[in-house]
Amino acid sequence: MPPRSARLVVTLLALVLCGGAAHGQSAAPIALSVDAAQKGPTISRHLFGQFAEHLGRGVYEGVWVGPDSSIPNTRGIRNDVVAALKALKVPNVRWPGGCFADEYHWRNGVGPAAQRRATLNPNWGGVIEPNSFGTHEFMDFADQIGADAYLSVNVGSGTPNEAADWLEYLTTAQPTALAKERDANGHKAPYTIPFLGIGNESWDCGGNMSPDYYLSQLRIYSRFVRNFNPAQQQGAAQMLKIAVGPGGDGARWTEWTETIMKAYKARQWSWDMQGLSMHQYTVVRWPPAYKSTGFGEAEYAQILKSTLEMDGLIATHGAIMDKYDPEKKVALVVDEWGAWYAKLPGTPEGFLEQQNSLRDAVLAALNINIFARHADRVRMANIAQMVNVLQAMVLTQKEKIVLTPTYHVFRMYVPFQDSTFVPVTFDAGSYTQGSITLPRVDAIGARDAAGTLWLALTNVDPTKPVEIAATLSGITARSASGETLTAPAVDSINTFDAPSTVAPKPAQATLANGRLTVTLPPKSVTVVGVRP
Ligand code: AHR
Repeated sequence: MPPRSARLVVTLLALVLCGGAAHGQSAAPIALSVDAAQKGPTISRHLFGQFAEHLGRGVYEGVWVGPDSSIPNTRGIRNDVVAALKALKVPNVRWPGGCFADEYHWRNGVGPAAQRRATLNPNWGGVIEPNSFGTHEFMDFADQIGADAYLSVNVGSGTPNEAADWLEYLTTAQPTALAKERDANGHKAPYTIPFLGIGNESWDCGGNMSPDYYLSQLRIYSRFVRNFNPAQQQGAAQMLKIAVGPGGDGARWTEWTETIMKAYKARQWSWDMQGLSMHQYTVVRWPPAYKSTGFGEAEYAQILKSTLEMDGLIATHGAIMDKYDPEKKVALVVDEWGAWYAKLPGTPEGFLEQQNSLRDAVLAALNINIFARHADRVRMANIAQMVNVLQAMVLTQKEKIVLTPTYHVFRMYVPFQDSTFVPVTFDAGSYTQGSITLPRVDAIGARDAAGTLWLALTNVDPTKPVEIAATLSGITARSASGETLTAPAVDSINTFDAPSTVAPKPAQATLANGRLTVTLPPKSVTVVGVRP
Protein backbone atom coordinates (compact mmCIF):
# COMPACT_ATOMS: atom_id res chain seq x y z
CA MET A 1 0.00 0.00 0.00
CA PRO A 2 1.44 3.50 -0.90
CA PRO A 3 2.19 5.93 1.94
CA ARG A 4 -0.68 8.12 3.22
CA SER A 5 0.59 11.31 1.49
CA ALA A 6 0.77 9.52 -1.89
CA ARG A 7 -2.75 8.11 -1.38
CA LEU A 8 -4.04 11.65 -0.76
CA VAL A 9 -2.50 12.91 -4.01
CA VAL A 10 -4.05 10.01 -5.94
CA THR A 11 -7.44 10.64 -4.33
CA LEU A 12 -7.37 14.36 -5.15
CA LEU A 13 -6.35 13.60 -8.73
CA ALA A 14 -9.16 11.06 -9.06
CA LEU A 15 -11.67 13.54 -7.65
CA VAL A 16 -10.72 16.12 -10.25
CA LEU A 17 -10.65 13.63 -13.14
CA CYS A 18 -13.93 11.99 -12.18
CA GLY A 19 -15.86 15.19 -11.79
CA GLY A 20 -15.79 15.23 -8.03
CA ALA A 21 -15.06 18.97 -8.13
CA ALA A 22 -16.43 21.28 -5.52
CA HIS A 23 -19.72 23.13 -6.14
CA GLY A 24 -19.44 25.60 -8.99
CA GLN A 25 -16.33 24.09 -10.53
CA SER A 26 -16.61 22.61 -13.99
CA ALA A 27 -16.30 18.85 -14.32
CA ALA A 28 -14.12 17.39 -17.10
CA PRO A 29 -15.48 18.27 -20.58
CA ILE A 30 -18.00 15.85 -21.99
CA ALA A 31 -17.13 14.63 -25.48
CA LEU A 32 -20.11 14.50 -27.80
CA SER A 33 -20.03 13.43 -31.40
CA VAL A 34 -22.60 13.84 -34.09
CA ASP A 35 -22.66 12.84 -37.74
CA ALA A 36 -25.13 15.33 -39.16
CA ALA A 37 -25.48 13.25 -42.33
CA GLN A 38 -27.18 10.43 -40.40
CA LYS A 39 -30.95 10.53 -40.65
CA GLY A 40 -33.38 9.16 -38.11
CA PRO A 41 -37.18 9.52 -38.04
CA THR A 42 -39.03 12.82 -38.24
CA ILE A 43 -39.56 14.50 -34.88
CA SER A 44 -43.20 15.33 -35.47
CA ARG A 45 -44.26 18.85 -34.61
CA HIS A 46 -47.23 17.21 -32.91
CA LEU A 47 -44.92 16.15 -30.06
CA PHE A 48 -45.24 19.77 -28.94
CA GLY A 49 -49.03 19.64 -28.60
CA GLN A 50 -51.00 21.33 -25.82
CA PHE A 51 -54.02 20.40 -23.74
CA ALA A 52 -56.81 22.79 -22.71
CA GLU A 53 -59.42 21.24 -20.47
CA HIS A 54 -62.44 22.92 -18.90
CA LEU A 55 -60.72 22.84 -15.54
CA GLY A 56 -60.13 25.62 -13.04
CA ARG A 57 -58.89 28.76 -14.81
CA GLY A 58 -57.51 26.88 -17.80
CA VAL A 59 -60.18 27.91 -20.29
CA TYR A 60 -62.27 30.48 -18.40
CA GLU A 61 -59.97 33.42 -17.52
CA GLY A 62 -56.95 31.72 -19.09
CA VAL A 63 -58.20 31.71 -22.67
CA TRP A 64 -61.76 32.97 -22.66
CA VAL A 65 -62.70 36.29 -21.07
CA GLY A 66 -65.73 37.00 -23.26
CA PRO A 67 -66.16 39.72 -25.87
CA ASP A 68 -67.27 42.32 -23.30
CA SER A 69 -64.18 41.96 -21.11
CA SER A 70 -61.86 44.94 -20.47
CA ILE A 71 -58.99 42.50 -21.09
CA PRO A 72 -58.03 42.93 -24.76
CA ASN A 73 -59.59 40.09 -26.70
CA THR A 74 -60.65 38.95 -30.12
CA ARG A 75 -64.17 37.53 -30.10
CA GLY A 76 -63.75 36.79 -26.37
CA ILE A 77 -60.30 35.14 -26.58
CA ARG A 78 -57.40 36.87 -24.79
CA ASN A 79 -55.01 38.59 -27.19
CA ASP A 80 -52.01 38.28 -24.84
CA VAL A 81 -52.42 34.52 -24.47
CA VAL A 82 -52.87 34.08 -28.23
CA ALA A 83 -49.73 36.14 -28.94
CA ALA A 84 -47.68 34.13 -26.45
CA LEU A 85 -48.89 30.79 -27.82
CA LYS A 86 -48.34 31.79 -31.44
CA ALA A 87 -44.62 32.10 -30.70
CA LEU A 88 -44.64 28.42 -29.69
CA LYS A 89 -46.10 27.37 -33.06
CA VAL A 90 -48.52 25.15 -31.13
CA PRO A 91 -49.23 22.26 -33.52
CA ASN A 92 -52.42 20.97 -31.91
CA VAL A 93 -54.65 21.54 -28.90
CA ARG A 94 -56.55 18.75 -27.17
CA TRP A 95 -60.01 19.80 -25.98
CA PRO A 96 -62.42 19.76 -24.06
CA GLY A 97 -60.76 17.27 -21.67
CA GLY A 98 -59.56 15.15 -19.87
CA CYS A 99 -62.15 13.87 -17.49
CA PHE A 100 -64.38 16.77 -18.51
CA ALA A 101 -64.71 15.34 -22.03
CA ASP A 102 -66.57 12.22 -20.89
CA GLU A 103 -69.26 14.37 -19.30
CA TYR A 104 -69.37 16.98 -22.04
CA HIS A 105 -72.45 17.37 -24.22
CA TRP A 106 -71.48 19.45 -27.21
CA ARG A 107 -74.98 20.81 -27.81
CA ASN A 108 -74.72 22.81 -24.57
CA GLY A 109 -71.86 24.75 -26.16
CA VAL A 110 -73.35 25.86 -29.48
CA GLY A 111 -75.92 28.47 -30.39
CA PRO A 112 -76.56 32.04 -29.23
CA ALA A 113 -74.48 32.88 -26.15
CA ALA A 114 -77.50 34.08 -24.15
CA GLN A 115 -79.27 30.76 -24.64
CA ARG A 116 -76.43 28.48 -23.55
CA ARG A 117 -77.37 26.28 -20.60
CA ALA A 118 -75.30 26.49 -17.46
CA THR A 119 -74.27 23.00 -16.35
CA LEU A 120 -71.89 21.60 -13.76
CA ASN A 121 -68.27 20.54 -13.84
CA PRO A 122 -68.38 17.71 -11.30
CA ASN A 123 -64.80 16.57 -11.87
CA TRP A 124 -63.15 19.88 -11.19
CA GLY A 125 -64.46 21.65 -8.12
CA GLY A 126 -68.15 21.13 -8.94
CA VAL A 127 -68.25 24.65 -10.34
CA ILE A 128 -70.73 26.00 -12.86
CA GLU A 129 -69.83 25.40 -16.48
CA PRO A 130 -71.35 28.33 -18.35
CA ASN A 131 -70.77 26.71 -21.76
CA SER A 132 -69.81 30.13 -23.17
CA PHE A 133 -66.68 28.52 -24.59
CA GLY A 134 -67.99 25.80 -26.87
CA THR A 135 -67.24 24.29 -30.26
CA HIS A 136 -67.09 27.51 -32.31
CA GLU A 137 -65.09 29.35 -29.67
CA PHE A 138 -62.59 26.51 -29.43
CA MET A 139 -62.20 26.29 -33.19
CA ASP A 140 -61.74 30.07 -33.31
CA PHE A 141 -59.06 29.84 -30.61
CA ALA A 142 -57.24 27.03 -32.43
CA ASP A 143 -57.40 29.10 -35.61
CA GLN A 144 -56.10 32.23 -33.86
CA ILE A 145 -53.01 30.41 -32.56
CA GLY A 146 -52.59 28.40 -35.78
CA ALA A 147 -53.09 24.98 -34.18
CA ASP A 148 -54.92 21.85 -35.31
CA ALA A 149 -57.93 20.69 -33.34
CA TYR A 150 -57.70 17.48 -31.32
CA LEU A 151 -61.20 16.77 -29.99
CA SER A 152 -62.07 14.12 -27.41
CA VAL A 153 -65.54 12.67 -27.79
CA ASN A 154 -67.68 11.61 -24.87
CA VAL A 155 -67.62 7.82 -24.62
CA GLY A 156 -68.29 7.68 -20.87
CA SER A 157 -71.68 9.35 -20.50
CA GLY A 158 -72.48 10.09 -24.13
CA THR A 159 -73.66 7.98 -27.02
CA PRO A 160 -72.19 7.11 -30.42
CA ASN A 161 -75.10 9.02 -31.94
CA GLU A 162 -74.29 12.20 -29.99
CA ALA A 163 -70.62 11.98 -30.99
CA ALA A 164 -71.46 11.20 -34.64
CA ASP A 165 -73.77 14.22 -34.75
CA TRP A 166 -70.97 16.42 -33.41
CA LEU A 167 -68.64 15.22 -36.16
CA GLU A 168 -71.30 15.70 -38.81
CA TYR A 169 -71.98 19.21 -37.46
CA LEU A 170 -68.27 19.97 -37.68
CA THR A 171 -67.18 18.33 -40.89
CA THR A 172 -69.90 17.86 -43.48
CA ALA A 173 -69.95 20.05 -46.58
CA GLN A 174 -73.44 18.84 -47.55
CA PRO A 175 -76.52 20.90 -46.67
CA THR A 176 -77.75 18.62 -43.86
CA ALA A 177 -79.76 19.96 -40.96
CA LEU A 178 -76.64 19.92 -38.80
CA ALA A 179 -74.57 21.75 -41.43
CA LYS A 180 -77.30 24.39 -41.67
CA GLU A 181 -77.23 24.75 -37.92
CA ARG A 182 -73.44 25.24 -38.04
CA ASP A 183 -73.95 27.89 -40.69
CA ALA A 184 -76.63 29.62 -38.60
CA ASN A 185 -74.20 29.59 -35.69
CA GLY A 186 -71.65 31.50 -37.74
CA HIS A 187 -69.55 28.99 -39.65
CA LYS A 188 -70.66 28.03 -43.13
CA ALA A 189 -67.51 26.17 -44.18
CA PRO A 190 -66.83 22.74 -42.70
CA TYR A 191 -64.20 22.59 -40.00
CA THR A 192 -61.19 20.28 -40.18
CA ILE A 193 -60.64 17.92 -37.27
CA PRO A 194 -57.31 16.18 -37.81
CA PHE A 195 -57.32 14.32 -34.47
CA LEU A 196 -60.12 12.61 -32.60
CA GLY A 197 -59.79 10.97 -29.19
CA ILE A 198 -62.27 8.14 -28.61
CA GLY A 199 -62.81 8.71 -24.88
CA ASN A 200 -60.40 9.71 -22.13
CA GLU A 201 -59.04 7.50 -19.36
CA SER A 202 -61.96 5.13 -19.89
CA TRP A 203 -60.36 2.93 -17.24
CA ASP A 204 -61.09 5.62 -14.60
CA CYS A 205 -62.90 8.97 -14.86
CA GLY A 206 -64.00 8.06 -18.39
CA GLY A 207 -66.27 5.27 -17.16
CA ASN A 208 -64.30 2.73 -15.12
CA MET A 209 -64.30 0.33 -18.04
CA SER A 210 -62.42 -2.95 -18.32
CA PRO A 211 -60.13 -3.29 -21.36
CA ASP A 212 -62.66 -5.56 -23.09
CA TYR A 213 -65.58 -3.26 -22.37
CA TYR A 214 -63.66 -0.27 -23.72
CA LEU A 215 -62.65 -2.25 -26.77
CA SER A 216 -66.31 -2.90 -27.60
CA GLN A 217 -66.97 0.85 -27.28
CA LEU A 218 -63.98 1.65 -29.45
CA ARG A 219 -65.25 -0.62 -32.22
CA ILE A 220 -68.64 1.10 -32.16
CA TYR A 221 -67.39 4.68 -31.93
CA SER A 222 -64.65 4.15 -34.46
CA ARG A 223 -67.29 2.92 -36.91
CA PHE A 224 -69.85 5.69 -36.48
CA VAL A 225 -67.88 8.75 -35.41
CA ARG A 226 -66.40 9.62 -38.76
CA ASN A 227 -65.17 12.57 -40.62
CA PHE A 228 -68.22 13.17 -42.82
CA ASN A 229 -66.36 15.18 -45.42
CA PRO A 230 -64.96 13.08 -48.31
CA ALA A 231 -62.47 15.84 -49.15
CA GLN A 232 -60.96 15.36 -45.71
CA GLN A 233 -60.77 11.57 -45.75
CA GLN A 234 -57.39 11.24 -47.44
CA GLY A 235 -53.88 12.53 -46.94
CA ALA A 236 -52.93 15.25 -44.51
CA ALA A 237 -56.50 16.30 -43.79
CA GLN A 238 -57.48 12.79 -42.72
CA MET A 239 -58.87 12.53 -39.21
CA LEU A 240 -56.71 10.28 -37.04
CA LYS A 241 -58.58 8.32 -34.38
CA ILE A 242 -56.82 7.87 -31.08
CA ALA A 243 -57.90 5.10 -28.73
CA VAL A 244 -57.61 5.23 -24.96
CA GLY A 245 -54.38 3.57 -23.87
CA PRO A 246 -52.43 2.94 -20.67
CA GLY A 247 -52.11 5.27 -17.71
CA GLY A 248 -49.01 4.04 -15.96
CA ASP A 249 -46.70 1.21 -15.12
CA GLY A 250 -47.67 -2.37 -14.24
CA ALA A 251 -49.72 -5.36 -15.35
CA ARG A 252 -53.02 -3.48 -15.42
CA TRP A 253 -51.65 -1.20 -18.12
CA THR A 254 -49.80 -3.77 -20.18
CA GLU A 255 -53.02 -5.81 -20.25
CA TRP A 256 -54.86 -2.74 -21.55
CA THR A 257 -52.33 -2.14 -24.35
CA GLU A 258 -52.29 -5.88 -25.21
CA THR A 259 -56.08 -5.98 -25.47
CA ILE A 260 -56.37 -2.98 -27.78
CA MET A 261 -53.37 -3.79 -29.96
CA LYS A 262 -54.29 -7.47 -30.32
CA ALA A 263 -57.75 -6.46 -31.48
CA TYR A 264 -56.22 -3.88 -33.81
CA LYS A 265 -54.19 -6.59 -35.50
CA ALA A 266 -57.20 -8.87 -35.88
CA ARG A 267 -59.63 -6.10 -36.85
CA GLN A 268 -62.11 -6.17 -39.69
CA TRP A 269 -62.17 -3.43 -42.29
CA SER A 270 -64.96 -1.50 -40.65
CA TRP A 271 -63.12 -0.08 -37.66
CA ASP A 272 -59.75 1.47 -37.33
CA MET A 273 -57.47 3.51 -35.11
CA GLN A 274 -54.31 5.41 -35.90
CA GLY A 275 -53.15 6.25 -32.40
CA LEU A 276 -53.05 4.80 -28.90
CA SER A 277 -53.03 7.33 -26.08
CA MET A 278 -50.80 7.09 -23.02
CA HIS A 279 -50.99 9.27 -19.90
CA GLN A 280 -48.01 9.65 -17.62
CA TYR A 281 -47.65 12.38 -15.03
CA THR A 282 -44.57 13.10 -12.94
CA VAL A 283 -46.10 12.94 -9.50
CA VAL A 284 -43.93 10.51 -7.42
CA ARG A 285 -46.87 9.56 -5.20
CA TRP A 286 -50.61 10.04 -5.16
CA PRO A 287 -52.20 12.40 -4.13
CA PRO A 288 -49.74 14.97 -5.50
CA ALA A 289 -47.76 16.31 -2.55
CA TYR A 290 -44.55 17.79 -3.91
CA LYS A 291 -44.43 21.58 -3.80
CA SER A 292 -44.12 23.50 -7.06
CA THR A 293 -41.94 26.19 -5.48
CA GLY A 294 -40.02 26.55 -2.21
CA PHE A 295 -38.21 23.21 -2.50
CA GLY A 296 -34.58 22.15 -2.44
CA GLU A 297 -32.15 19.94 -4.27
CA ALA A 298 -33.51 16.69 -2.80
CA GLU A 299 -36.98 17.34 -4.29
CA TYR A 300 -35.36 18.50 -7.52
CA ALA A 301 -33.54 15.19 -7.89
CA GLN A 302 -36.55 13.10 -6.84
CA ILE A 303 -38.87 14.71 -9.37
CA LEU A 304 -36.35 14.38 -12.19
CA LYS A 305 -35.75 10.73 -11.31
CA SER A 306 -39.47 10.16 -11.50
CA THR A 307 -39.85 11.99 -14.81
CA LEU A 308 -37.21 9.81 -16.46
CA GLU A 309 -39.54 6.83 -15.97
CA MET A 310 -41.27 8.05 -19.13
CA ASP A 311 -38.57 6.35 -21.17
CA GLY A 312 -39.19 2.87 -19.71
CA LEU A 313 -42.92 3.26 -20.03
CA ILE A 314 -42.68 4.14 -23.71
CA ALA A 315 -40.31 1.22 -24.22
CA THR A 316 -42.68 -1.21 -22.48
CA HIS A 317 -45.80 -0.17 -24.35
CA GLY A 318 -43.87 0.37 -27.58
CA ALA A 319 -42.69 -3.25 -27.41
CA ILE A 320 -46.29 -4.50 -27.08
CA MET A 321 -47.30 -2.31 -30.00
CA ASP A 322 -44.37 -3.65 -32.06
CA LYS A 323 -45.69 -7.18 -31.51
CA TYR A 324 -49.03 -6.39 -33.16
CA ASP A 325 -48.01 -3.47 -35.37
CA PRO A 326 -44.39 -3.97 -36.43
CA GLU A 327 -44.77 -1.37 -39.17
CA LYS A 328 -45.54 1.24 -36.51
CA LYS A 329 -48.70 2.41 -38.22
CA VAL A 330 -50.31 3.21 -34.87
CA ALA A 331 -48.75 6.19 -33.13
CA LEU A 332 -48.20 6.19 -29.39
CA VAL A 333 -49.77 9.49 -28.35
CA VAL A 334 -48.63 10.74 -24.93
CA ASP A 335 -51.56 13.13 -24.71
CA GLU A 336 -51.22 13.93 -21.02
CA TRP A 337 -47.79 14.42 -19.50
CA GLY A 338 -46.03 16.83 -17.18
CA ALA A 339 -45.48 17.54 -13.50
CA TRP A 340 -48.41 17.34 -11.11
CA TYR A 341 -47.68 19.00 -7.76
CA ALA A 342 -49.68 19.97 -4.67
CA LYS A 343 -52.11 22.80 -5.36
CA LEU A 344 -50.89 26.29 -4.52
CA PRO A 345 -52.04 27.40 -1.04
CA GLY A 346 -55.22 29.47 -1.24
CA THR A 347 -56.31 28.15 -4.64
CA PRO A 348 -59.60 26.24 -4.97
CA GLU A 349 -59.77 22.46 -4.68
CA GLY A 350 -59.83 20.83 -8.08
CA PHE A 351 -58.34 23.78 -9.96
CA LEU A 352 -54.88 22.14 -10.13
CA GLU A 353 -53.00 25.43 -9.91
CA GLN A 354 -49.26 25.16 -9.40
CA GLN A 355 -46.19 27.28 -9.99
CA ASN A 356 -43.68 26.45 -12.67
CA SER A 357 -39.98 26.54 -11.83
CA LEU A 358 -36.63 26.00 -13.44
CA ARG A 359 -37.04 22.34 -12.42
CA ASP A 360 -40.04 22.17 -14.75
CA ALA A 361 -37.96 23.56 -17.61
CA VAL A 362 -35.39 20.79 -17.11
CA LEU A 363 -38.21 18.24 -16.74
CA ALA A 364 -39.84 19.41 -19.98
CA ALA A 365 -36.56 19.17 -21.90
CA LEU A 366 -35.87 15.65 -20.58
CA ASN A 367 -39.33 14.48 -21.65
CA ILE A 368 -39.16 16.05 -25.10
CA ASN A 369 -35.78 14.39 -25.56
CA ILE A 370 -37.30 11.03 -24.63
CA PHE A 371 -40.14 11.54 -27.12
CA ALA A 372 -37.64 12.51 -29.83
CA ARG A 373 -35.59 9.36 -29.21
CA HIS A 374 -38.79 7.33 -29.69
CA ALA A 375 -39.99 9.45 -32.61
CA ASP A 376 -40.63 6.44 -34.83
CA ARG A 377 -43.49 5.42 -32.50
CA VAL A 378 -44.25 8.52 -30.42
CA ARG A 379 -45.66 10.93 -32.97
CA MET A 380 -47.80 13.12 -30.79
CA ALA A 381 -47.77 14.38 -27.21
CA ASN A 382 -49.73 16.96 -25.24
CA ILE A 383 -48.37 18.58 -22.13
CA ALA A 384 -50.91 19.09 -19.34
CA GLN A 385 -52.02 21.80 -19.49
CA MET A 386 -51.70 24.97 -21.53
CA VAL A 387 -52.80 27.84 -19.25
CA ASN A 388 -53.11 28.14 -15.44
CA VAL A 389 -53.41 24.37 -14.87
CA LEU A 390 -50.63 21.91 -13.92
CA GLN A 391 -47.40 22.41 -15.91
CA ALA A 392 -48.65 25.42 -17.84
CA MET A 393 -47.08 27.52 -20.57
CA VAL A 394 -48.53 30.75 -19.24
CA LEU A 395 -50.14 31.92 -16.01
CA THR A 396 -52.68 34.71 -15.92
CA GLN A 397 -54.02 36.96 -13.18
CA LYS A 398 -56.79 39.24 -14.36
CA GLU A 399 -55.15 41.34 -17.12
CA LYS A 400 -51.63 40.11 -16.32
CA ILE A 401 -49.77 37.26 -17.95
CA VAL A 402 -46.45 35.60 -17.18
CA LEU A 403 -44.48 33.16 -19.32
CA THR A 404 -43.30 30.11 -17.39
CA PRO A 405 -39.92 28.37 -17.59
CA THR A 406 -41.68 25.53 -19.43
CA TYR A 407 -42.91 28.05 -21.99
CA HIS A 408 -39.33 29.07 -22.70
CA VAL A 409 -38.27 25.48 -23.30
CA PHE A 410 -41.12 24.95 -25.76
CA ARG A 411 -40.12 28.17 -27.55
CA MET A 412 -36.44 27.21 -27.66
CA TYR A 413 -37.34 23.77 -29.08
CA VAL A 414 -39.45 25.17 -31.96
CA PRO A 415 -36.70 24.35 -34.51
CA PHE A 416 -37.14 20.66 -33.63
CA GLN A 417 -40.70 20.67 -34.96
CA ASP A 418 -40.78 18.39 -38.02
CA SER A 419 -36.99 18.14 -38.02
CA THR A 420 -35.09 14.94 -38.75
CA PHE A 421 -33.62 13.13 -35.77
CA VAL A 422 -29.81 12.89 -35.85
CA PRO A 423 -28.22 10.51 -33.33
CA VAL A 424 -25.65 11.97 -30.95
CA THR A 425 -23.23 9.97 -28.83
CA PHE A 426 -21.88 11.21 -25.53
CA ASP A 427 -20.96 10.02 -22.09
CA ALA A 428 -23.70 11.45 -19.90
CA GLY A 429 -21.69 11.32 -16.71
CA SER A 430 -23.65 11.27 -13.47
CA TYR A 431 -25.07 13.56 -10.84
CA THR A 432 -25.74 12.21 -7.36
CA GLN A 433 -28.02 13.69 -4.73
CA GLY A 434 -28.42 11.54 -1.61
CA SER A 435 -29.46 8.09 -2.80
CA ILE A 436 -30.42 9.31 -6.26
CA THR A 437 -28.03 9.18 -9.20
CA LEU A 438 -29.11 10.65 -12.53
CA PRO A 439 -27.38 11.19 -15.86
CA ARG A 440 -25.70 14.57 -15.58
CA VAL A 441 -26.16 15.54 -19.21
CA ASP A 442 -28.83 14.80 -21.79
CA ALA A 443 -28.66 15.66 -25.47
CA ILE A 444 -30.54 15.23 -28.72
CA GLY A 445 -29.74 16.36 -32.23
CA ALA A 446 -31.82 17.09 -35.32
CA ARG A 447 -31.57 18.67 -38.73
CA ASP A 448 -34.17 21.10 -40.05
CA ALA A 449 -35.29 21.60 -43.65
CA ALA A 450 -32.67 24.33 -44.19
CA GLY A 451 -29.86 21.97 -43.14
CA THR A 452 -29.19 23.58 -39.76
CA LEU A 453 -28.09 21.09 -37.14
CA TRP A 454 -29.84 21.66 -33.82
CA LEU A 455 -28.55 20.36 -30.52
CA ALA A 456 -30.58 20.43 -27.32
CA LEU A 457 -28.32 20.04 -24.29
CA THR A 458 -29.46 19.74 -20.70
CA ASN A 459 -27.23 19.96 -17.65
CA VAL A 460 -29.18 18.31 -14.85
CA ASP A 461 -26.48 18.95 -12.24
CA PRO A 462 -27.59 21.95 -10.16
CA THR A 463 -24.12 22.76 -8.88
CA LYS A 464 -21.56 22.29 -11.64
CA PRO A 465 -21.30 23.69 -15.14
CA VAL A 466 -20.46 21.27 -17.92
CA GLU A 467 -18.36 21.91 -20.98
CA ILE A 468 -19.52 20.03 -24.06
CA ALA A 469 -16.79 19.38 -26.61
CA ALA A 470 -18.66 18.34 -29.74
CA THR A 471 -17.06 16.79 -32.79
CA LEU A 472 -19.19 17.44 -35.84
CA SER A 473 -19.12 15.53 -39.10
CA GLY A 474 -21.48 15.43 -42.08
CA ILE A 475 -21.84 19.20 -42.02
CA THR A 476 -19.58 22.10 -42.97
CA ALA A 477 -20.35 24.21 -39.95
CA ARG A 478 -20.05 27.96 -40.51
CA SER A 479 -21.65 29.45 -37.42
CA ALA A 480 -23.21 28.40 -34.16
CA SER A 481 -25.47 30.25 -31.76
CA GLY A 482 -28.27 29.50 -29.39
CA GLU A 483 -29.97 30.15 -26.10
CA THR A 484 -29.57 28.90 -22.56
CA LEU A 485 -32.23 28.82 -19.89
CA THR A 486 -31.12 28.81 -16.28
CA ALA A 487 -31.77 30.73 -13.06
CA PRO A 488 -30.30 31.24 -9.59
CA ALA A 489 -32.05 28.28 -7.92
CA VAL A 490 -33.70 24.98 -8.84
CA ASP A 491 -37.00 26.43 -7.63
CA SER A 492 -36.64 29.84 -9.32
CA ILE A 493 -39.95 30.93 -10.82
CA ASN A 494 -41.37 33.77 -12.87
CA THR A 495 -44.01 35.86 -11.15
CA PHE A 496 -46.26 38.72 -12.25
CA ASP A 497 -43.93 41.10 -10.39
CA ALA A 498 -40.66 39.46 -11.49
CA PRO A 499 -41.49 37.85 -14.84
CA SER A 500 -37.93 37.34 -16.12
CA THR A 501 -36.13 35.47 -13.35
CA VAL A 502 -36.08 32.41 -15.61
CA ALA A 503 -35.55 33.69 -19.15
CA PRO A 504 -33.32 32.54 -22.00
CA LYS A 505 -29.97 34.23 -22.61
CA PRO A 506 -27.45 33.77 -25.43
CA ALA A 507 -25.68 30.43 -25.14
CA GLN A 508 -21.92 30.20 -24.61
CA ALA A 509 -21.09 28.39 -27.83
CA THR A 510 -17.94 28.64 -29.95
CA LEU A 511 -17.09 26.93 -33.20
CA ALA A 512 -13.51 26.27 -34.36
CA ASN A 513 -12.23 23.77 -36.93
CA GLY A 514 -15.41 21.70 -36.93
CA ARG A 515 -15.41 21.50 -33.14
CA LEU A 516 -18.20 23.04 -31.17
CA THR A 517 -17.70 23.97 -27.54
CA VAL A 518 -20.73 24.77 -25.43
CA THR A 519 -20.67 25.65 -21.76
CA LEU A 520 -23.78 24.50 -19.96
CA PRO A 521 -24.42 26.32 -16.69
CA PRO A 522 -25.64 24.22 -13.76
CA LYS A 523 -29.35 23.23 -14.00
CA SER A 524 -29.85 24.52 -17.50
CA VAL A 525 -31.36 23.82 -20.89
CA THR A 526 -29.50 24.96 -24.01
CA VAL A 527 -30.48 24.83 -27.67
CA VAL A 528 -27.78 25.57 -30.23
CA GLY A 529 -28.14 25.83 -34.00
CA VAL A 530 -25.12 24.96 -36.13
CA ARG A 531 -25.56 26.51 -39.56
CA PRO A 532 -23.98 25.14 -42.72
O1 AHR B 1 -55.10 16.83 -16.55
C1 AHR B 1 -55.92 16.61 -15.46
C2 AHR B 1 -56.61 15.26 -15.50
O2 AHR B 1 -55.67 14.24 -15.41
C3 AHR B 1 -57.36 14.92 -16.76
O3 AHR B 1 -58.64 15.45 -16.79
C4 AHR B 1 -57.42 13.44 -16.71
O4 AHR B 1 -57.50 12.85 -17.99
C5 AHR B 1 -56.17 13.05 -15.98
O5 AHR B 1 -56.41 12.14 -14.98
